[in-house]
Amino acid sequence: MIMTAIPEYQDFFGDDNPAGLIARYGSPLYVYHEAILRRRCRELKNLIDYERFTVNYSVKANANLSLLRIIREEGLHADAMSPGELFILGKAGFMPEQLFFVPNNVGDDELQYAVDHHICVSLDSLDQLERFGRLAPGSDVALRINPGVGAGHHVKVVTAGKKTKFGIAEEQIDEARAIANRYRMRIIGVNQHIGSLFMEPSAFLKAARHFFSMALAFPDLAFVDLGGGFGIPYHKLAGEERLDLAALGRGLNGLVQSFVASYGKPLTVKIEPGRYIVAECGILLGTVHALKENNGTTYSGTDLGFNVLARPMLYDSWHDLVAYRDGQPLEDLQTKSVTVVGNICESGDIIAADRKLPPLRSGDLLAVLDAGAYGYSMSSNYNNRLRPAEVLVREDGSSMLIRCRETLEDLLRAFPG
Ligand code: LLP
Repeated sequence: MIMTAIPEYQDFFGDDNPAGLIARYGSPLYVYHEAILRRRCRELKNLIDYERFTVNYSVKANANLSLLRIIREEGLHADAMSPGELFILGKAGFMPEQLFFVPNNVGDDELQYAVDHHICVSLDSLDQLERFGRLAPGSDVALRINPGVGAGHHVKVVTAGKKTKFGIAEEQIDEARAIANRYRMRIIGVNQHIGSLFMEPSAFLKAARHFFSMALAFPDLAFVDLGGGFGIPYHKLAGEERLDLAALGRGLNGLVQSFVASYGKPLTVKIEPGRYIVAECGILLGTVHALKENNGTTYSGTDLGFNVLARPMLYDSWHDLVAYRDGQPLEDLQTKSVTVVGNICESGDIIAADRKLPPLRSGDLLAVLDAGAYGYSMSSNYNNRLRPAEVLVREDGSSMLIRCRETLEDLLRAFPG
């Protein structure tokens, strides 16, 4: 399928085209589309028909301040993994009661940051619960429970099950309760997150059913948080189907209604998606700078190193690519196999191996689709490269810079003296 056959991409670059945007803001460049971001927020907000349903955006997927402001405007709340994420969410205008801190293996300083800012904390081990009890006795807390089964697109992002570092095992719940009692803490929330990227509603619904039955054992709950992991079709140019949100919503509705009825008092049900909200509103643009044949492989050398987008290098992740020449997609040319690489001094610096693309020339641009989640947020200064700029295409078609490209001076920022 060609990119422009997908309705959401028809006006992705607004009044401009990739060449115009790169000429204005430089390469590589993250470009976000406001309308798609808002649409994804609304799709999840309307997932179920339950008054106390809350969508917590998981900010680790993308922490751009302008995008966070839009997500807040859409009425989402947020969860954070670090004081840095809490800090940026505060700057985006989220109120403490809209935030949930879900840390892992942190010291007193990070827990104290949440206490000082009146943000609800989830503790994910008996040890962390005890630490929090010493720090803030008498407080309301949440527990991250590991339901014993996980799922995800890669073993590195399965965040529950017997073989991960996350959560309090169900067998430890009694002990957790004893610790909470000892420090007069009230367990007002339970949360889980089985892993990142499911495309079938059944995996999530099964985990939710199990989690609800476990939650009945906690008498003081104000909320149950079912976690994130909602997948997006990374192979959309090959026609991959979307996650069936309607089916997921129907299933979840039923589970929520019967849970709330058995629980006997109203409480909030939350989900905490990251990827689903931001992945598809982001395209990473880069430039082809060199072509070569090495022992039978055609390489297209670009400025899209794994310092800019780490997912292919880390998880062998697939991102659809579209080539542009003179501002137009090269969609009708005969394709040829090419390995698209970046400019980092490691041989694993491969964005796409053996990919079918139109024959590329130096100066062509590449659009990396679905790059809005875990793209910029996982970028780095490796090889002392500068992090790229980010641009937002507004609903009226205009574009605006929402994060400056780093400068060489930024590389000196952390050195004392
Ligand atoms: N909640 C918790 C506690 C999490 O650990 C995560 C993600 C989420 C929510 C959001 O998950 P999502 O809806 O985005 O799947 N860097 C990887 C993904 C790592 C996800 C880690 N935890 C990637 O690029 O695929």
